[in-house]
Amino acid sequence: MAARFRVSAYLRNRFVFYREAVLSARQTGAFSYTSRAVARAVTAAVAREGDRPIRVLEVGAGTGALTRAILARLGPGDRLDAYEINPAFARVLRAEIAGARHAPGVEVRVFEADIETLPEGARYDRIVSTLPLLNMEPEKVRRVFALLLGRLEPGGTLTYYDYWAKQALAWLPFQGRARVRAVLGVTREFLDRHEVAREWVPWNLPPAVVHHLRASRNDAAAAGASRADTASSGYQCAADPDTIQIWRTPNRGSTNPG
Ligand SMILES: C[S@@+](CC[C@H](N)C(=O)[O-])C[C@H]1O[C@@H](n2cnc3c(N)ncnc32)[C@H](O)[C@@H]1O
Repeated sequence: MAARFRVSAYLRNRFVFYREAVLSARQTGAFSYTSRAVARAVTAAVAREGDRPIRVLEVGAGTGALTRAILARLGPGDRLDAYEINPAFARVLRAEIAGARHAPGVEVRVFEADIETLPEGARYDRIVSTLPLLNMEPEKVRRVFALLLGRLEPGGTLTYYDYWAKQALAWLPFQGRARVRAVLGVTREFLDRHEVAREWVPWNLPPAVVHHLRASRNDAAAAGASRADTASSGYQCAADPDTIQIWRTPNRGSTNPG
């Protein structure tokens, strides 16, 4: 009985994902859900430091390909907020979470909403995003990067992935080329300033590059954090080697965010 329920939940998950990948192609921005290899690489960033509970934000949770991997890493007292704009995905996501294995005492909340509606005071230790940036308008990409970096707690990380060889899109003759070029320009700008680690993951369709970013003091200030908050917490702009050592990064320490 339980096995039959699991199989039907799995099939429903896949069916809804592929249906929406066609019906809401631009908003979904993927023809397949995130592979396990990428989910592992992205969620490597979701680790507690010591005993303090952490708050995690997942952006563009879809049908939960990453959510399950995030939940597996959380412990008692931790909280996960998942934002998903597509109501069909949000419905499946709630069912997925209800059936997912995780430690007791983990609080999970699903928000069926655009990430830009994130409440003012919300702050997170880890933010994980799979938003389809290349399908979005450049102004929105800029706003979302600024929003997410601004909502990081001191020392927090923003992790997202994009596709390897995405630059090639800027040279292909298609209608949205100017927009894609502009989006690539915006992402490059934020990566130049904030990236602290990256990892290439070939086991995804197409192969992926996972990026880990940190905020600067300016992002926190723009998001409304008080001076006292940032000063008393010893807010670091540069990469903290203790927290990024698991990310197997080729450029660790070579970038200076913010
Ligand atoms: C590439 S899919 C990733 C889905 C899933 N996380 C995965 O890894 O397979 C991008 C997801 O972002 C959602 N999305 C797009 N724009 C959004 C927005 N402004 N706010 C919240 N979610 C959004 C889409 O509906 C879709 O589920």
